[in-house]
Amino acid sequence: MMCAILACVNAVPHSRRDDHVKVNGVKYTNKGLVAFGQLPANALDVTGDTLGGLGSAMALKPGSWQKLTNGSFAGTLYVHPDRGYNIDKTVDYQARHHTIDFVLTPYEKKKKLTFEDAQATLQVAYTGTILKTERDGKKTTGLDAAGIRDALGIDPQLPIASMSDDRLSLDVEGMVANADGSFWISDEYGPYIYLFSAKGALLHAITPPAAVLPMRDGEIDFTSVEDPDSGRAANQGLENLTIDPATQTLYAMLQSATIQDGGNDDETSRYARLLAYDVSGVSTADGSGDSAYVGEWVVELPVSNSKGKTRAASEIHFLNDGVFLVLSRDGKGGGDDDTESKYKNIAIFSISDATNISNSKFDDPANPIANGGNLDKSISPAEVTDFIDMIDDDELARFGLHNGDDADDTLIASKWESLAIVSVSDEESPDDYFIFTAADNDFITTDGISVGQQYDAGADVANQFMVFRATLPGYLT
Ligand SMILES: *[C@@H]1O[C@H](CO)[C@@H](O)[C@H](O)[C@H]1NC(C)=O
Ligand SMILES: *[C@@H]1O[C@H](CO)[C@@H](O)[C@H](O)[C@H]1NC(C)=O
Ligand SMILES: *[C@@H]1O[C@H](CO)[C@@H](O)[C@H](O)[C@H]1NC(C)=O
Repeated sequence: MMCAILACVNAVPHSRRDDHVKVNGVKYTNKGLVAFGQLPANALDVTGDTLGGLGSAMALKPGSWQKLTNGSFAGTLYVHPDRGYNIDKTVDYQARHHTIDFVLTPYEKKKKLTFEDAQATLQVAYTGTILKTERDGKKTTGLDAAGIRDALGIDPQLPIASMSDDRLSLDVEGMVANADGSFWISDEYGPYIYLFSAKGALLHAITPPAAVLPMRDGEIDFTSVEDPDSGRAANQGLENLTIDPATQTLYAMLQSATIQDGGNDDETSRYARLLAYDVSGVSTADGSGDSAYVGEWVVELPVSNSKGKTRAASEIHFLNDGVFLVLSRDGKGGGDDDTESKYKNIAIFSISDATNISNSKFDDPANPIANGGNLDKSISPAEVTDFIDMIDDDELARFGLHNGDDADDTLIASKWESLAIVSVSDEESPDDYFIFTAADNDFITTDGISVGQQYDAGADVANQFMVFRATLPGYLT
């Protein structure tokens, strides 16, 4: 930025450096890491299970955000684990989300805090859990979806644990909180999008187009134990869910390419599909009414410089007309054998110049968008622009954190997977927002309990949270 020193200081008092990108002519500014907090690896939820995997999905509880008179902020986050501690095999983990109350005291100075003092910048406290059920109260499970329930009433065919265990299997990865307390979630098995009531009961299910449904030998097969012949790859489902609040359009993105589009191989998986559904016709009170599939685009995920490997998307967040944040990263850091992460970025993409492939031949799995990982020439993808470097060494050091080297308490976690955005509530910087993110620690603790059984995962990885500050002009809250 070219400007007189004083003018800059007045306009952007929080910026320690000029760090911005332009997308569609709009300037987005990264103002750096402003808070860090964590919950211990061995904390328990109200059911007695280990409180973990918190990063899988996140949303700010509508109406909870407040600016305190002493300069701090308070609010409540909803955090959604995926399907429990499942290192050896899937477990009978009932889907649930937790409420986390926080007090945020943003730290914007250059001077390094100790790791202990840094944790005062984001004080987090677990306050409760909402367990997911079907309409009749039947509990959901995290067990592999080895079975299929026939379509019934307003429900399409649903993934269930087995033909003899008719419980809905959920592996939740995305979440949108509605103002009335109901929730949209996205999952990896279907991969489906579901509406649940404030109390956690199923209200509505949305199926993806045929190209995304997992098919084996011509039939739907929801298992995550092996890859299907076409459709979403095993464990690479609809990981990301976000909403355009103005039009009630839900956007869900696949974690990486479908089998026919390059599959799960990180050398060919960079072309991920983004699906859009208009859900304005669905009642969030009782799930009646229909959604409409209204758009589909291809997002070209970033690849590593050295080996060309895909940096999978772990979260998207709607900013404004056609523009999204995407959290893209490698899997290295705390919780992984390799502690040195090379890339974790809260990046930006725009679909305004990308090809809308909905209701086209690409809905048929016989017509891949990217055969062997090479994008079909008729498609213009949305390209990703790096924005906030989450593992900038200087920024981490301000909070007593580090990347690489020892796997100690101050090592930055590997699997950052969620985003929530809230206004800084500063009249002088009306376009400034706090971006919350949480890591999925995969329930790694030496002192764990999974569905009543004790376990020792061989290490302790705390549930880490970070908050960044950024200028996001035009963000629709
Ligand atoms: C403001 O008050 C809250 C408690 O109400 C406290 O947790 C927080 O640390 C305080 N902030 C500052 C800057 O003193
Ligand atoms: C987005 O995708 C990642 C997978 O990389 C997943 O783990 C994460 O939970 C997803 N987040 C949301 C909100 O969908
Ligand atoms: C995408 O294309 C479909 C038709 O194939 C159309 O109905 C829809 O309006 C388009 N969406 C957008 C956002 O342009």
